[in-house]
Amino acid sequence: MNIVVLSGAGLSAESGLGTFRDADGLWTKYDLSQVATPEGFAQNPALVHDFYNARRANMVAAAPHAAHSALARLAGRAGITLVTQNIDDLLERAGAQGVIHMHGELARALCNACGHRWDAPAKMAPADPCPACAAQATRPDVVWFGEIPYAMEVIEARLAECDLFVSIGTSGEVYPAAGFVAAARQLGARTLELNLEASGAIFDEVRVGPASEVVPTWVDEVLAK
Ligand code: APR
Repeated sequence: MNIVVLSGAGLSAESGLGTFRDADGLWTKYDLSQVATPEGFAQNPALVHDFYNARRANMVAAAPHAAHSALARLAGRAGITLVTQNIDDLLERAGAQGVIHMHGELARALCNACGHRWDAPAKMAPADPCPACAAQATRPDVVWFGEIPYAMEVIEARLAECDLFVSIGTSGEVYPAAGFVAAARQLGARTLELNLEASGAIFDEVRVGPASEVVPTWVDEVLAK
């Protein structure tokens, strides 16, 4: 069976990493247009680096939980595609390989001048030179609002051939990821949502609960088949 799993911030919430749109979410504390857009970065790169440096420090201090470990048991099996909107590395630290980070990764740096990518240091600053071209145009390798998410062709191909689409811990507010469920259903897949609260999007089945509980239960069912 071909399965595409899309995860969002709810997957990592119980590891202590904030979600974006919940009551105490990151976008209630920070101005999205200042820290998560190319325009915000052009205006104040130091502020943007500080924001992502803090996210990176939180990520390093956090540990994966039972849902990350369960998904790691699925990853690498035939027919399984893990797509995440999360920029943390908790799936990888739980042992998952081949995760598609459609919104980029906190652990990586990107040169805005030449496109070179490298492992991000703990703290990044606007004057950091690119190791390849020396331009002082270093940015976190994350996809901002107004930019095109990574690996869309691969994701669309996997959606087209999947039998089951599973959405975990995402509000379904941000496109193109928010459109995956409708696309998968139209292409013939069954659809399942695992979330603390139902997102309201149309799924064939919705299981409500914390990721640390509902995800391992679902993964055990899949592996038992
Ligand atoms: N277990 C499962 N789901 C949870 C948990 C939990 N413990 N806690 C919260 N959730 C769910 C919420 O119910 C909500 O549906 O996680 C979701 C979080 O939604 P958002 O904060 O909108 O996060 P996400 O959907 O990942 O945001 C998408 O928006 O700002 C951008 O680029 C950022 O990738 C992010 C994108």
